[in-house]
Amino acid sequence: MKSELRHRFRSVHGREPAVIARAPGRIEFIGNHTDYNGGTVLGAAIDRGVWVGVAPRVDGRRRFASAAMTEVVETGTDAPRPFAGKDAWANYPLGMIVSLAAAGVAIPAGFDFLAVSDLPPGAGLSSSAALELASGLACARLAGVEPPRGTLVRAARHAENHFVGVPCGILDQAVSGFGRRGHLVHIDCRGPDFMTVPLPPGTGFRIFNTHTRHALVDGLYAERHRECGEAARALGVALLADLDPAGLKARSRGLSEGLLRRASHVVGEISRVAACVAALRAGRIDDAGRLLTASHESSRTCFENSTPELDFLVEELARTPGVFGARLTGGGFGGAVMALVAEPFAPESAERVAAAYAERFGARPDVLAVSTADGASLETP
Ligand code: GLA
Repeated sequence: MKSELRHRFRSVHGREPAVIARAPGRIEFIGNHTDYNGGTVLGAAIDRGVWVGVAPRVDGRRRFASAAMTEVVETGTDAPRPFAGKDAWANYPLGMIVSLAAAGVAIPAGFDFLAVSDLPPGAGLSSSAALELASGLACARLAGVEPPRGTLVRAARHAENHFVGVPCGILDQAVSGFGRRGHLVHIDCRGPDFMTVPLPPGTGFRIFNTHTRHALVDGLYAERHRECGEAARALGVALLADLDPAGLKARSRGLSEGLLRRASHVVGEISRVAACVAALRAGRIDDAGRLLTASHESSRTCFENSTPELDFLVEELARTPGVFGARLTGGGFGGAVMALVAEPFAPESAERVAAAYAERFGARPDVLAVSTADGASLETP
């Protein structure tokens, strides 16, 4: 990817990038919709991501280019406002430098910018968080600083919430920032506190990208966010993470059935994250896999953020030899299913699942083999 970045940078900006940074995409391993509820979650940074190159300009102009778009998006340095329409992709890097500046991190005045990515768009592997992290690292470096990782991650979430306008939690940005090869990232979103948990050797991931996306996916995410807040208020707690399953049961009288299902999912997921960490630390990979599939079942029945396409894949995968467990990954309402598999995983097995899906839904899912990777880093230009 680095040579492609340099090549495109030269052809768009007519010179070499002075700084290059990369940031990985992520898999949500387990802990669905727990992050903005103050809970815990496990994710994995993957060996695909976004690469960003920047070079300084003396005229104060900021010129954003992306390999995925034909036009350069340009702005000055005074009071940045979000772009709209086809230029909106540039809100991720622009929002990132606005949030970094607000956090007291030096950022360059003018620069040429270019991003390239090998993350499949729309699969829910967090290309936006990867773009934020890589942009933040590269632009701060151009201004001569390397911000602490926690500052970078918090600024990225801030950009997404306040500049881009998505009410997400910190999962995607934290995993892209704190990823470690051979490990999962564990986030306690209340701190937030970050640590890594080793993934047993001989395991890997397959992503089945359905290329489906609910037309109202952004609105549905925001609606679930709202419902969780409403459930917490009705239950008399600040955050759903303040309750364990017994506490939820004890307080649930009078709560509407719909809100109870949402709360049960979140509280149940937080227990499953803890059980999963214990299983992984003890080398009980089968148990960890079963928890993944149980998480999907809870999404399907309680949080109602799955779809028939995702359910079909999880069902097929759950009875495929070499698969420990499978679940939707990320916000839901379409996107991809991830499977935790024993490596080497037979290609015929993945093919059988993809063919069964194609027969049922009339379109093939893409199957992507990914492994864990390190978090965002500066690279030699
Ligand atoms: C998306 C959001 C995350 C998280 C997940 C669901 O990926 O960006 O913050 O809420 O959905 O767990």
